[in-house]
Amino acid sequence: MIQRTLCLVKPDAVKRNLAGAILDMIQKSGLKIVALKMLHLSVPQAEGFYAVHKERPFFGSLTAYMSSGPIVAAVLEGEDAIARYRTLMGATNPANADAGTIRKLYAENVEANSVHGSDAPETAAVEIAYFFHTLEMVG
Ligand code: RTP
Ligand code: MG
Repeated sequence: MIQRTLCLVKPDAVKRNLAGAILDMIQKSGLKIVALKMLHLSVPQAEGFYAVHKERPFFGSLTAYMSSGPIVAAVLEGEDAIARYRTLMGATNPANADAGTIRKLYAENVEANSVHGSDAPETAAVEIAYFFHTLEMVG
């Protein structure tokens, strides 16, 4: 099934000029970029995006980090895009990520882990709508 998923290149990776390298890995994997922009989230905007984690002990630190600098947001499209992109990202903690994944290559630690990807069709729909208007997506 053709799916869309939300990709964020997080502040640690944008700061190290890795956005291009990460988008290159995504495109080489065959996923298509159908929307793209750079933005800097405020703390409330980061809290809104990660609201599902608001009871977690790392919520304050996570939202401070996610609003600490610019991010790149993209919508990826392809066959089974949600699971394919999660596989390409690698495990949340780079210490557990498989060789060749984005997080194994680039993540600094379990929080500053370079990329976000939606984890299911329902969350992908909500997350894409959080960042992009319909008119900002092609295809
Ligand atoms: P994401 O939502 O960003 O794609 O990451 P994920 O599904 O692999 O991980 P999730 O459990 O949804 O956690 C969201 C983000 O919170 C930070 N985190 N910190 N300190 C910690 O133990 C911890 N655990 C998670 C990471 O930035 C993680 O990607
Ligand atoms: Mg997640």
